[in-house]
Amino acid sequence: MKPALSTEHLTVSYYTPQGPVPALRGVSFTLFENEILGLVGESGSGKSTLALAVMRLMEPDRAEVSGQVTVGSKNLYDLSARDLQRLWWEDIAMVFQSSMNALNPVLSIGDHFTDTFLAHRPMMRMTEIRQKTASLLQQVQLSPKLVRSYPHELSGGMKQRVVIALSLALDPKVLIMDEPTTALDVVVQHSILAEVAAIQRERHLAVLFISHDFSLVSGLAHRIAIMYAGELVEITERDMAIGNSTPHHPYTEGLIQATPRITGGRVRIQGIPGEPPDMTRLPAGCPFWERCPKRLDRCQTVPLPQQTGHTFIRCHLTGTSSLSSSSSSKEGMAHGE
Ligand SMILES: Nc1ncnc2c1ncn2[C@@H]1O[C@H](COP(=O)(O)OP(=O)(O)O)[C@@H](O)[C@H]1O
Ligand SMILES: [Mg+2]
Repeated sequence: MKPALSTEHLTVSYYTPQGPVPALRGVSFTLFENEILGLVGESGSGKSTLALAVMRLMEPDRAEVSGQVTVGSKNLYDLSARDLQRLWWEDIAMVFQSSMNALNPVLSIGDHFTDTFLAHRPMMRMTEIRQKTASLLQQVQLSPKLVRSYPHELSGGMKQRVVIALSLALDPKVLIMDEPTTALDVVVQHSILAEVAAIQRERHLAVLFISHDFSLVSGLAHRIAIMYAGELVEITERDMAIGNSTPHHPYTEGLIQATPRITGGRVRIQGIPGEPPDMTRLPAGCPFWERCPKRLDRCQTVPLPQQTGHTFIRCHLTGTSSLSSSSSSKEGMAHGE
């Protein structure tokens, strides 16, 4: 497996009047070619911050960014503004959170594609632009006739499909999707996810798929990265998460337990008691320590990630018998139905 995108100790601290907010803390991961890596974490855990830092889109007056991002063989933070512009869309593209609302209301759908193509390939001819636009729209199950429509004439699902088609216009190898279906109803959400899976397979894309919804990601991704309080606490294979037969970080276990399951004809959902920590007053050791049903005294010191192949767990319990018993953690996580 060849890396398509990797980050090394990526760190973001927002400037606020109350002082720095360390929203992303030393995040290192690799997204491989032809892979969907799901990124899951609750609201505020730093997912969108990670996406913006990976794209080098964080404004310098908003936050301090450090670390490295490599796409193919290029370090994004070493590139000139001109090279960066070229890399965006052509090597790496992003579907932003709520981006369907960012379509320009005075431009037709066709104009959005034309503008995108001409910005990168000024010599491209209109006949080719029309052909490519029609083919992109068909890939997301939209009629090519939509080129004459305006954003307000489209449903939310259609607009989101247009945004996904636009992100693919310049054949990027890496695609970041930040909560691409969160604003949509469940039926539309599922058909768009099926399209994303098909497009990824056809184009052999590397996709970083971000969502707060663990069950949605576990149906789509090959591996799942779990984020908590600005840190990756685990990267697991999807099958390991679904089977839940292997040990996981107690927070991942909580997410697995929080996935709706039908038992005895009733839908059971167990939550994770407690709240994420205040990002301006993080505990010294493991950030999940306060909520963890398996915590030990040593959890008040920083746990190092324990790597196995392309997965890791950042937990002091890794490798000890306490982490491998998933049933005891179920008791600890139980919190109503
Ligand atoms: N512009 C900003 N200024 C200060 N803090 C911010 C800013 N944007 C996000 N944050 C904080 O950074 C943390 C991570 O936010 P975000 O990346 O949006 O999380 P997610 O996408 O997982 O919901 C949150 O605690 C949020 O309050
Ligand atoms: Mg977000």
